[in-house]
Amino acid sequence: MTTIYLQIKGTGSFLPPYVLTNDALEHMVDTSDEWITDRTGIKERRLAKETATYEMATSAALKALEDAQVSPQDIDLIIATTITPDYFTPSLSCLVQKEIGADNAFCFDVNAACSGFCYALDVADCYIKTGKAKRILIVASEALSRITDYTDRNTCVLFGDGAGAVVVSGGDEPGMTDSFLAATGRDGEVLAADMFGDGAARVRMNGKEVYKFAVSVNIKIVNLLLERNSLTVGDIAYIVQHQANKRIISAVSNKLGLSEDRIFMNLDKYGNTSSASIPICLDEMNRSGMLKKGDKVILVGFGAGLTYGGVLLTW
Ligand code: COA
Repeated sequence: MTTIYLQIKGTGSFLPPYVLTNDALEHMVDTSDEWITDRTGIKERRLAKETATYEMATSAALKALEDAQVSPQDIDLIIATTITPDYFTPSLSCLVQKEIGADNAFCFDVNAACSGFCYALDVADCYIKTGKAKRILIVASEALSRITDYTDRNTCVLFGDGAGAVVVSGGDEPGMTDSFLAATGRDGEVLAADMFGDGAARVRMNGKEVYKFAVSVNIKIVNLLLERNSLTVGDIAYIVQHQANKRIISAVSNKLGLSEDRIFMNLDKYGNTSSASIPICLDEMNRSGMLKKGDKVILVGFGAGLTYGGVLLTW
């Protein structure tokens, strides 16, 4: 029996136009461009302002469909990932379905915070492999500015808004060849967003604990995927980590012996956009021609939950 692989057929992203720079943050909290740049690598981030999460998602989705040359009518499943939906219900995926007219799709959302895109790819892979869905739209959209406390300098410098999407389908040439998902709910308190009575949520975080968790699970995921597939770091064209902090990415790269040209980073422009960060990276890499057919790419997500996961792809 031939193996059916999930293949990424198209990518898209949307970044809202409003830019919040480090200089502007200096006027909001007791911080400095120097501190933020040194400790995180972030220079600016985008804010959705009046743009809804589903509107960002729709823009990214339409670009991915166009890139894949797939009509919305041919999508049979939409998986959306977000921790900042516009409504408790309808789901983000149903809102996107309505906007793009993907009338033949069934729809659900995944909440795995910043690991959401890796989780969604893994779910999509199961549907593709069983033949229960043939063409799937995965869209990650986050308006973290809506749950960020702009009086808390420990967190407000980190987050930004944006959306990324991919269209996937099955094929017999290697695409997604392995994946690994995990969670440690017992540690969930180190990164959480409380829901208050008025519906307003605010992120709270123990930065040092999250930092240690992030570095250790990143290394664990990459090593696991390499070992399980008899690969070395030299076989991998790019490792795309969730864009949380330049120091986390550098610590992982140093530990793995990865040169800078094989990691992708855009967090200087967008900050941490939660589950949208990896598909936004993939879209920028795809559109700039960085990704060549046959390139092996590892995606690594980690975040609140705590959740983490990785995906090994052949482009
Ligand atoms: N500007 C200036 N000073 C700040 C600051 C800011 N924006 N945020 C914190 N500080 C201060 C702290 O209050 C502390 O001051 P003190 O020594 O007087 O108490 C000092 O800087 C050092 O803080 P510390 O928490 O030790 O900094 P750090 O080197 O750990 O960096 C983070 C803080 C948040 C950047 C880092 O811990 C981190 O990136 N953690 C992971 C966060 C993350 O990625 N979350 C999302 C995961 S999906």
